Amino acid sequence: MKIHSIISYSFILALAWGNFSCTPAELSKKASQKLKTGGDYITEKSKLAYESSREALGLKEETPPRSSKPMTISKRVFGQLEDGSKVHEFRLINERGMEVSIIEYGASIRDIIVEDRNGKKENVSLGFDHLQDYVDKSPYFGCIAGRYANRIANGKFSLDGEEFQLATNNGPNHLHGGNLGFDKKVWTGTPLENDLGVSLTYRSPDGEEGYPGNLSCTVVYSLSEDNKLSVAIEAVTDKPTVVNLTNHTYFNLAGEGDPTILDHLLTLPGTTFVATDTTNIPTHLQPVAGTPFDFRSATVVGARIGADHPQLVAGKGYDHTWVVPTGKEGLAHAATLYDTDSGRVLKLFTDQPGVQFYSGNFLDGSLTGVGGNSYPLRSGLCLEPQLYPDSPNHQGEEGWRNCVLRPDETYHHHSVYEFSTK
Ligand code: BGC
Repeated sequence: MKIHSIISYSFILALAWGNFSCTPAELSKKASQKLKTGGDYITEKSKLAYESSREALGLKEETPPRSSKPMTISKRVFGQLEDGSKVHEFRLINERGMEVSIIEYGASIRDIIVEDRNGKKENVSLGFDHLQDYVDKSPYFGCIAGRYANRIANGKFSLDGEEFQLATNNGPNHLHGGNLGFDKKVWTGTPLENDLGVSLTYRSPDGEEGYPGNLSCTVVYSLSEDNKLSVAIEAVTDKPTVVNLTNHTYFNLAGEGDPTILDHLLTLPGTTFVATDTTNIPTHLQPVAGTPFDFRSATVVGARIGADHPQLVAGKGYDHTWVVPTGKEGLAHAATLYDTDSGRVLKLFTDQPGVQFYSGNFLDGSLTGVGGNSYPLRSGLCLEPQLYPDSPNHQGEEGWRNCVLRPDETYHHHSVYEFSTK
């Protein structure tokens, strides 16, 4: 072996020892350990090292050309709570450059950055720059709402003959898990070892906010290379309890800080919606045909929002659950949102029976978001896949899904938010 070959071989071995002295599984374990301790793990660095070592070995041509940047997961401290506990933020970036940031507080999505039809990247979800804003004033931005998302009438339900009284934090009713729901809890985040994603866990103790049973929850956020953001939630309990978990992101496809979502085109394929009383408690299932609730073909959100319809008056706009038509297999199409100016499209697929469309009726301009702009009335909208509101008081009724979780069962929720342009 010639002397220069020996030198270059030694160099490659040294490089390989630095980056690849362990199996891929060990490498990803090391990376997640590094992430757990607060460091940044940038896959780009290791990929470049890998490619340069292959080039030196004359194997460069076997490496498929990279379309753009490799995917990355990074972790940083987002903020610190008064009790000193640290809240981390995980940022997922796929090879196409779509970014999703998730914070451990409320397991909340803080931003979603996607291209418009001209390649311009913007954040399309409402959120804050500072942890304290999430603690003090977040109207559930991006969080996992629970233990029971949406409302329970008068905060009361009975289960196996026992009556439970929960907090009434929304007029006479219970909303999104009570005074300190899952949105106000610090979840523990861990990056996925073999995927672009993060898993967050929270254990809700027996009796928390009045709910029975210790409930262990996991939410896995993952981002695919074709811009699909998957939200998979599971929970197990040690006593019968009620569970309804959903992600509560506010979207504005024109870019966070844009003043209105009233110009977005919305499609909700459901033929029925859950009509409510003036406190947003379900009264009956009502066909959408002939009402301003008919979004079976794409309709501008603002077109009928001011109509003199008792349900719109009661909800102060749209704040209702649409029945999701069940697909043949797999996840069902629950909604499509389209901003014609930017060309951005969001399609929502879910295994949940309902989707709550909330048109941001309680935003009032008093909150300032990540981009420094205030969030006026209807500057964001939510599409929350979930069980119907107040299901604990409708168990056994025709058309209502079971919401009771028992010790030998696992709660499942899977929704996919697919972003594209046209
Ligand atoms: C509810 C609204 C509520 C909002 C709070 C939505 O899920 O349906 O009534 O005001 O959450 O952010």
